[in-house]
Amino acid sequence: MIEVWHADILHSLSPQKMLYLKDGYLWVRSGKIEQVSKDPPLEKHRLYDFRGKLLIPGLIDTHTHLPQFALRGLGKHALLPWLREYILPEECKFADASYAEKIAYAFFESIIAQGTTTVCAFLTSHRKAAEIAFQVAEKLGLRAFLGLTLMDRRGPKALLRSPKEALKDCLYLIDKFHAREKLQFVVSPRFALSCSPQMLSMAGKLSQENNLLLQTHLSENFHEIDETRKAFPEAKSYTEVYYRYGCLHDKTLLAHCLHLSEQEIKLIQKQKASCVHCPASNGFLMSGIMPLQKLRRSKLNISLGTDVAAGYHLGLLPEMRLAIESSKLWAYWLNQEASAYPPLKPAEALYLATLGGAKALHLHDKLGNFLPGKWADFIILNDNTLAAPKEELSCEERLSRLLYCHPGTVELAAVEGTVIYERTGK
Ligand code: GUN
Ligand code: ZN
Repeated sequence: MIEVWHADILHSLSPQKMLYLKDGYLWVRSGKIEQVSKDPPLEKHRLYDFRGKLLIPGLIDTHTHLPQFALRGLGKHALLPWLREYILPEECKFADASYAEKIAYAFFESIIAQGTTTVCAFLTSHRKAAEIAFQVAEKLGLRAFLGLTLMDRRGPKALLRSPKEALKDCLYLIDKFHAREKLQFVVSPRFALSCSPQMLSMAGKLSQENNLLLQTHLSENFHEIDETRKAFPEAKSYTEVYYRYGCLHDKTLLAHCLHLSEQEIKLIQKQKASCVHCPASNGFLMSGIMPLQKLRRSKLNISLGTDVAAGYHLGLLPEMRLAIESSKLWAYWLNQEASAYPPLKPAEALYLATLGGAKALHLHDKLGNFLPGKWADFIILNDNTLAAPKEELSCEERLSRLLYCHPGTVELAAVEGTVIYERTGK
């Protein structure tokens, strides 16, 4: 039977353009969007009444780390010592399957409760812990794109694998989980510094031969960039390291991208890779401010990521607000070019967290807004408690108010029309 959701419906059509229908109806048949309309269908239907609440596409977090969930808000404010002293020792604990399971539940439950219905995340280098993460995600019903972290140098022995061992584990996980319902396997070299040329070549080849997404980190921190130059003298730039070894292609997601040269931007554009903006993390580790408007002007696809535990939460709604605020800081305070680089608008932030993410994952024909035929992945937000009467607000104003004043009001989340989260004690 057709299911119909009655609410104020808002989604992105393009980076600047949103569609807003107050008191609208979202029709869902067999997990897919049939249409958004002003009236309910004439045929028999099941009606879900969320009048006065905001219904938007499920949010898409395109970069975070499951095994770092317990370390949010802790540690030093510099990437490499933070990794060495806090993060890598924590990741070693995932040799213990019961710990891996406990954190996987806590991580996915928290992410869903904050309105994310699709997540792309790094795991650790433990095969068993990776299997557990896929199984827990499947059980909870969200879309999860997960990758075994690949590293063969500069880390504790317990996390290092040779390219041969890592390939074997990747193939095992691909065979068992990739494209199983809402799951995907993502090839995940941690970053250039933790990989030998052989490991990067293996990752590049594996992703290209199997048409898999590849995720990694790029140009996050000045010290990291210097060390990468020393470790890969054969490459002209950090970005070129990934290009040389086959890791820079149209299914690549590059987290951070803070300190890129013009040549590096051109190379990313040529290869059609996506950049993932992680504003909370960039602030927490004092890594820098993303030149978001500049990258967008260079026609790079950009999406959003929470990057836990350098990011201190799993919420993409607060991350949208931080993306707007960091775009102001970059344009006004670093460049004094306010008029040339206007700050990100709430509509553009919504695009980054929905359709931009879908594009990075190569799923924009199936995900990211409410065009007919797409999967019915959506969330319902309750902004009723705001003081100003919401009837008087334009949709831009209503979204802005929500991002700035009430980022934690997710009432329900659905994936392919199936409710996977409902807030208790409403
Ligand atoms: N670079 C390499 N590994 C990591 C990580 O775990 N977090 C962040 N923020 N950057 C990284
Ligand atoms: Zn990261």
